[in-house]
Amino acid sequence: MADWNKRYLETGERLFGENPNEYVREVMARSDVNISSALMIADGDGRNGAWLAAQGIQVTAVDISDVATEQALEHDDAMGVTVERIAADLETWTPDPGRTFDAAFMIYLQCETAVRQRAVEIAARALNPNGWFVAEGFATGDDGSGELGPGKDDLLYDPEGLLSALADMRIVHALSGRVHLDEGVKHRGTGWVFRLLARRNG
Ligand SMILES: C[S@@+](CC[C@H](N)C(=O)[O-])C[C@H]1O[C@@H](n2cnc3c(N)ncnc32)[C@H](O)[C@@H]1O
Repeated sequence: MADWNKRYLETGERLFGENPNEYVREVMARSDVNISSALMIADGDGRNGAWLAAQGIQVTAVDISDVATEQALEHDDAMGVTVERIAADLETWTPDPGRTFDAAFMIYLQCETAVRQRAVEIAARALNPNGWFVAEGFATGDDGSGELGPGKDDLLYDPEGLLSALADMRIVHALSGRVHLDEGVKHRGTGWVFRLLARRNG
């Protein structure tokens, strides 16, 4: 596992920028997405969770880095929002029994495939009927044009694997392709990504 604490400590600015991820904003702008609660899988220093909380959504966020989690809590404070933040490893973390969410967001979770697959499965199980699963991350299948990414195949989203973990959900939108990113010091340039919006049946 990469040393995420070190990465969050050594940069003087927010690693992935101040603003929420573009796909998160795009999904939230849809007229059929109307959520009251959200689970953020690997929310890092908190840009996405805080932005959702600022819209009145009750947000629970999990990230393995206690440094990022502390930084996120400070940012939440500065923004005047409250997010339930948990520093935990998605290899073992499970939501409390009975806890459910209207949506789960997995934005650039960068970890081994087995952990990512588990995270997708526990998030999908914790969705309310008609709940949404939203993901974006650097992915396999790059045609060679993506400049960004972790540089290790096991850390890339595997579209087929994600889709198979969500086989009983409706796929509303899926894109494998090159996008331009301008999200902080770490995500600036072109990246080959997988974007996914899936909905649990009612
Ligand atoms: C590329 S960052 C993205 C952070 C955030 N989602 C964002 O887009 O701003 C990847 C995040 O995954 C987290 N992470 C990696 N492995 C993890 C694991 N096993 N359990 C929980 N979080 C993990 C890291 O700590 C880091 O914050």
